[in-house]
Amino acid sequence: MAEKSFKYLIVGGGVAAGYAAREFAKQGVEPGELAIISKEAAWFYFLLIISYNLMKPKLYHRAARLPGFHVCVGSGGERLLPEWYKEKGIELILSTEIVKADLPANTLVSAAGEKFKYQILIIATGSTVIKLTDFGVQGADAKNIFYLREIDDADKLVEAIKAKKNGKAVIVGGGYIGLELGAALKINNLDVSMVYPEPWCMPRLFTSGIAAFYEGYYADKGIKIIKGTVAVGFTSNSNGEVKEVQLKDGRVLEADIVVVGVGGRPLTTLFKGQVEEEKGGIKTDAFFKTSVPNVYAVGDVATFPLKLYNELRRVEHVDHARKSAEQAVKAIKGIEKGQTVDEYDYLPYFYSRSFDLAWQFYGDTVLFGDNNPQSPKPKFGTYWIKDGKVVGAFLEGGTAEENQAIAKVAKLQPKVENLDVLTKEGLSFASKI
Ligand code: FDA
Ligand code: NAD
Repeated sequence: MAEKSFKYLIVGGGVAAGYAAREFAKQGVEPGELAIISKEAAWFYFLLIISYNLMKPKLYHRAARLPGFHVCVGSGGERLLPEWYKEKGIELILSTEIVKADLPANTLVSAAGEKFKYQILIIATGSTVIKLTDFGVQGADAKNIFYLREIDDADKLVEAIKAKKNGKAVIVGGGYIGLELGAALKINNLDVSMVYPEPWCMPRLFTSGIAAFYEGYYADKGIKIIKGTVAVGFTSNSNGEVKEVQLKDGRVLEADIVVVGVGGRPLTTLFKGQVEEEKGGIKTDAFFKTSVPNVYAVGDVATFPLKLYNELRRVEHVDHARKSAEQAVKAIKGIEKGQTVDEYDYLPYFYSRSFDLAWQFYGDTVLFGDNNPQSPKPKFGTYWIKDGKVVGAFLEGGTAEENQAIAKVAKLQPKVENLDVLTKEGLSFASKI
C-alpha cells in the first residue's frame, strides 16, 4: 500500500485544521511539508453556520459551502479556497478516514490502508454527537430523528423540513443545538416543542434569570417548552418514520421531525492508551503539546491549562479552535526558530444567535449541588466568576443561613484558586467565608 511522508501532518479537516494551515502559511511552510487529512469529502466548511443558515426561511444552508464559507471566513482575511492550499503547496487528503494511529512509529493508517508518516502530528479531530441510541433509548433509530454535526446531517434535515411542511417538531436538548434548531424549525413553520431535563435552558452558562428571558421569548414565538423531563422512547409509523416521543413524565408528543442535541464527545479513540488524557480530552500543555513530544492536539479534543482559572479545561467552540490551532503552530515554529512563545492565556468566550437575538458570554460560572428536577429536594446554585474572583451567587432551596453565606460571598468577592475545587465544595465554600 501507498506510503506518504510529511514534515507536518494534521488529522481532521475542520475549524482548527484550517486555522493551523493559515498560521503555517504565515510562519513559512515549504511546498510538500504540510498535509491535512480529513474524512469529509466536502471541502472545509464552517460548522457553526449550518444552524444559522437553517434559521433562514428559505433554507439557504447550501450556501454554507465554498466559496462563501471557507473555514476561516469568521475572522476575515484572505479566502482559503482550494487554490490557496495548492498555491502554498499544502496537500489536502480528503475522503480519507484515519482508522489507526501508531504514535511511537509516527504513522497513521487510513481505512483504505494508506500509511502516512510524519515528523510532527497535530490532532484536530473535533467532536462527534452523543446519540440517544448510545443510551439504548427505545425507537431512537427511527427515520426523521436528526443530529447535527456534518453537512450531510443538515442536508437530510432540510429534506425532511420540506417533506413535513407545517408538521410537528420535537427538539430534545436545551443547549446550543436545542435553542438554535428550535428557532430554525419554528422559522420554517413547524410546530415546535422543546424538551430538556434541567430546570432552565443552557444551564452551563445561564442563570435562571437569563434563561427566563430566552424561554419567555421562545414561548412568545409559539414554541412549547417542557422542562424537567427527558425522551425515553419513540414510536414510528409503518414507514419507520418517527410518530411520537414518549417522555419520562408520561406525556406523549406527536412528532414528524425530531432534532436531538444532547451534547458532543471529543474524538480521541484513535489515540487511546498512547497519549495522556484528562477530562475526556487529550491533555496538553500551554502550547498544545501532548504527552508525546512531537504530537499536538487542538480544538475540541484538547484539554489544556486555562491560565485565567488555573485549571485544565476542554472547550467546544470555534474561538478556541482557531486560537489553539494558531498557538500550536506558533509553538512548533518557535521551537524551530529558537524563539519563545507566550503561554496560551484564553478568556472563555461563547455566543449564539436565534430569531433576532444574539448573546455573547465571557468568563465563567460554576454550577454546584443537586439540580436534578426529579430530586425530592433539589438544592443547587451558581457562582459567577470574574477576574479569578466570585462576584455573584445564586442558590435554590437554601436555608436562611445558607442564603446569608452566599450573600456574603457576593459582597466580599473571595478569590478562587481552582474551579474544580469550587464545584466540589459548592455551598461549603460560601460557609467558610
Ligand atoms: P471540527 O469538528 O471542526 O473538525 C474535525 C474534523 O476532523 C472533521 O472534519 C472530521 O470529519 C475530521 N475527522 C475526525 N476524525 C477523523 C478521522 N479519524 N480521520 C479523518 N478525519 C477525521 N461554536 C461556536 O463557537 N459558535 C457557533 O455558533 C457554533 N455552532 C455550531 C453549530 C453546529 C451544528 C456544531 C456541530 C458545532 C458548532 N459550534 C459552534 C462548535 C464548533 O463548530 C466546534 O467547536 C469547532 O468546529 C471545533 O473545531 P475542531 O477543528 O476541533 O473540530
Ligand atoms: P450542549 O452541551 O450545549 O447541550 C446539551 C443539552 O442536552 C443539555 O443542556 C441538556 O439540556 C440536554 N440533555 C442532556 N441529556 C439529555 C437527555 N437525555 N434528554 C434530553 N436532553 C438532554 O450540546 P449540543 O447543544 O448538543 O451541542 C453539541 C456541540 O455543538 C457542542 O460542542 C456545542 O458547543 C456545539 N455547538 C455550539 C454552538 C454555539 O456555540 N453557538 C451552536 C451549536 C452547537
